[in-house]
Amino acid sequence: MKWLILIVTTWNFLPDFMYSFDVNPQTEAYIPDYNHYHNLTAITSNIADIVAKNPSFMRIDWSYKSKENRPQILLHITNFTGSVSHSAHTLQEAVPKIRVLLSYGEHAREFIPIESLFYLLQNLTSGLGAPHDSPEEIFTRTILSKFNLYIIVMANPDGRKIVEKTKNYCWRGTSTGVDLNRNFDWEFGNAGSSNNPKDEEYRGKHVFSEIESKVYTELTGQQSFDAFISFHSGIRQIYLPYADTKSKSTVREPPHLKTMTTLAEHLSVATKYKYSYGKAYDLGFYTADGTIFDYIAGKKQVPISMAIELWGKSNHKGLSCFDQFNPKSRHLKQEVADIHPLYVSLFFFLIKWKQEQFITLTDSMKDVPSMTFGYILLIIVIFLTFFVALQRKWCPCTKLFPRKRVISLKSLSSTITVWGFKSSSA
Ligand SMILES: *[C@@H]1O[C@H](CO)[C@@H](O)[C@H](O)[C@H]1NC(C)=O
Ligand SMILES: *[C@@H]1O[C@H](CO)[C@@H](O)[C@H](O)[C@H]1NC(C)=O
Ligand SMILES: *[C@@H]1O[C@H](CO)[C@@H](O)[C@H](O)[C@H]1NC(C)=O
Ligand SMILES: [Zn+2]
Repeated sequence: MKWLILIVTTWNFLPDFMYSFDVNPQTEAYIPDYNHYHNLTAITSNIADIVAKNPSFMRIDWSYKSKENRPQILLHITNFTGSVSHSAHTLQEAVPKIRVLLSYGEHAREFIPIESLFYLLQNLTSGLGAPHDSPEEIFTRTILSKFNLYIIVMANPDGRKIVEKTKNYCWRGTSTGVDLNRNFDWEFGNAGSSNNPKDEEYRGKHVFSEIESKVYTELTGQQSFDAFISFHSGIRQIYLPYADTKSKSTVREPPHLKTMTTLAEHLSVATKYKYSYGKAYDLGFYTADGTIFDYIAGKKQVPISMAIELWGKSNHKGLSCFDQFNPKSRHLKQEVADIHPLYVSLFFFLIKWKQEQFITLTDSMKDVPSMTFGYILLIIVIFLTFFVALQRKWCPCTKLFPRKRVISLKSLSSTITVWGFKSSSA
């Protein structure tokens, strides 16, 4: 027993790169107080409460479940009575609603992203009760009228349950220890993941081995989203696709990298903190294969797909996990308030982007009729030319012309003979 402890202690002092991270419990610097942080029970009941109070703007789908049958909680937020195209008086009103999919709780030990979602929901619902045309009410009305927000509140509830029950704040995977964010059908199985079930980046036995992936594949199969964002914590960083090993070696880039980079640039300075951003394979020290955001960018062709690490502790040392991924309970309220401007920046960027896209689209559609008209005109001209040419050759009606032609030729030949030229047609 003693030598085992010795080995474990020595192990702990090894530099980071000499061991792969495992998911064993560690001595924690601090642990969450569930009067501040929502536990799984509170997450589920609070979301249900908020939705029940706002049926015209929020709907909930309990049907997507984890391996152990816990709901992943799919939220749909929009102004359900405000249909866009019917009553559009201005171009701005005619722009289709922006479809966004937000994903929380993929990694069990990352608590703060979901807390930032609660802050956002609180912000939106408070705006509903605010006086008409107050800044709060305008903000909420804008978001509800311009977006179809789909939110996977708790992607990996089984993993979260393990964290709460066993107090192993290093647990990251699903109930079987699979890292959901290495289990997707994008370069699955390469070096940027592990085949060791004890490793925190365990990819699982095969692609999509985890039923928790179904909500992503089904939703992105049913509708075309404008944007997908996967929220994490551990550092303040914005990852753009791709993250995988092959893309790094071939310098592969997603189709809409420019748009995503501009968005990331905005987000990086939206809060009082500076977030670094870039292609994930450039930013990280390692590559990641089989990630959700690569899959959604590469396979599902969603134009904007990224992962945002919302919070990090600078110069974290040691192996404790909770403090590496989450702030202290008493700082939580302030920390999520500090993150909020990032959402605001995201929403306003998307509104502007969608509007520009729509205007470009309608402009190009205006071009279509004029182009078609041009082509039709050209075809008519060609047809007429042929018709006239053919008529001259075979049509008996050409007899209408010869006399005139002979006359003109005669006069022509007489003109030509003046020049000492014998016309053969005469
Ligand atoms: C969850 O947190 C609430 C406080 O919000 C507490 O009353 C409850 O006992 C906790 N439940 C579990 C299972 O930890
Ligand atoms: C929802 O849309 C309806 C119809 O356009 C509008 O009258 C109402 O003010 C909107 N409500 C909010 C909160 O945006
Ligand atoms: C919600 O957030 C927006 C953007 O920061 C802000 O303008 C608005 O006042 C907030 N609403 C409430 C109710 O705090
Ligand atoms: Zn994560």
